[in-house]
Amino acid sequence: MTDTLPAGSVLRSPGAIQAMGARLHAVEARLTAATATNIGFPAARDIDYRPLAPLLGHLLNNLGDPRIDPLYPGHVHDLEREVLDFTAELFRAPPGWSGYLTSGGTEGNLYGMWLGRTKLPNAVAYYSSAAHYSVPKACHLLGLAAVEVTTTVSGQMDYTDLTRKAARHRSRPAIVVATIGTTMTEAVDDVTDVHNALDAAGIRHRYVHSDAALAGVPLATTANRPAFDLADGAVSISVSGHKFFGTPVVCGIVLTRRKPEELTPNVPYLNTHDTTISGSRNGLAAAMLWHAMTSLGPTGHADRAERAREVAAYTIQRLRHIGWPAWRNPLSFTVLLRRLPVGMATVWPLPSEGDWSHIICMPGVETARIDSLVNTLVTYGSNRG
Ligand SMILES: Cc1ncc(COP(=O)(O)O)c(C=O)c1O
Repeated sequence: MTDTLPAGSVLRSPGAIQAMGARLHAVEARLTAATATNIGFPAARDIDYRPLAPLLGHLLNNLGDPRIDPLYPGHVHDLEREVLDFTAELFRAPPGWSGYLTSGGTEGNLYGMWLGRTKLPNAVAYYSSAAHYSVPKACHLLGLAAVEVTTTVSGQMDYTDLTRKAARHRSRPAIVVATIGTTMTEAVDDVTDVHNALDAAGIRHRYVHSDAALAGVPLATTANRPAFDLADGAVSISVSGHKFFGTPVVCGIVLTRRKPEELTPNVPYLNTHDTTISGSRNGLAAAMLWHAMTSLGPTGHADRAERAREVAAYTIQRLRHIGWPAWRNPLSFTVLLRRLPVGMATVWPLPSEGDWSHIICMPGVETARIDSLVNTLVTYGSNRG
C-alpha cells in the first residue's frame, strides 16, 4: 500500500467529469446569453483579458504593502506598483502618496474612512443619500457618527444641507465622502463645493474621501470635469477595477495623499508592513489592471470614455425620438429612462428606483444593443396600444 495516489489518478468517474463539463458549459451559455440584454450594470466588456490565461496556473498573492516585496515569491508587486503609478498620475497624487489594490470599491471606501477616523478620531461622517450602501456600512464598522445629507434631483449632494447639518456639529471634525458617480444617476459631488460648505459651517478639521468607484477613471481623462481628485482636495480616493476597466475578477484601487504611518505595524514573518485591510490580496487582479493600463495607455482610455459618452447621447436621442422620457448627468455613461413596462423588465434587467430605471453605456455597449431595446419598446407599445 502506498499513501500517495499515482500520477494522473482520476478521483472522479468519467461520467462525473463529463457531467461537470456539461454543467460548466451550461453556466457559460447562460452568461453569454445574458449579455445581449445586460446593459444596466457598470461592467465594461471591450478589453480582452485572455492573454493572461497562462497566469491561471499560479497562485498570485500580493501579500502586504505593495512597496515591499514580501518573502512569499508568488507575488506580482512589480505590476501592482505600475498600476498604482498609472492611477496616481490620473488622480494627480502629490509626492509621498501611497495606495494599494483592494477587493473593490467597498474596501476602498472602508480604507479611506478608516484613515479619516485615525486622523480625526472624534469626527462625524457626512455623505449624501445617494452614496453607495458601503458608506453607511463603513461608518457602522468604524463606529463613526453618521449624518446623511440630501441631494438635488440629479443626485448630487445638496451643499446647503451639508452646511446646515455640519453646523450642528461644528465642535467636531468632519469626514465627508464625496460620491464621484452615484450608483443610480452617476451624479458627481464637487470636492471644492464640499470644502466651501464646511468653511461656511465653521469646520476647520476635515477629511474628504472621494468614492470614485464608477466614474473616477473616465472623468480623470476628461477636461472640464468637476473637482474630485487628490489635487482638488480629496485626501483619499477609491475606484472599482471591474467597472471601467471591466476586469473579469472584482477588484479596486485606493490611493491616499500620505503614507499611512499610523496603520503600519511590521509583520516580521512575511517581511512586510501591514498597510492594507486584507492580508492576502488578488495578484491576478493586479496583472489584469496592468494589462488594461499598459495595452491602452491614458489616451486609449480617454477614447473609450468618449465613445461611451457618445453611445449614452445616442441612447437619449433614440428614446426621446419615440417619446420615452430620458436624461443623463453631464459627462456620464448612465442614462435614466422611465421604467420599462413590466413585461419587458424581466428580459431587460435594468436597476430601478421610483419611476426611473437606468442603462449604463459602458465601453463595449454598442448602439445595436440600444437599438434592440428601443425597437422592443416600440413593438411593445404598439402591441398594447
Ligand atoms: C458609487 C459606488 N461606490 C462603491 C461601490 C462599491 O463597489 P464594489 O462593488 O466594487 O465594492 C459601487 C458599486 O456599485 C458604487 O457604485
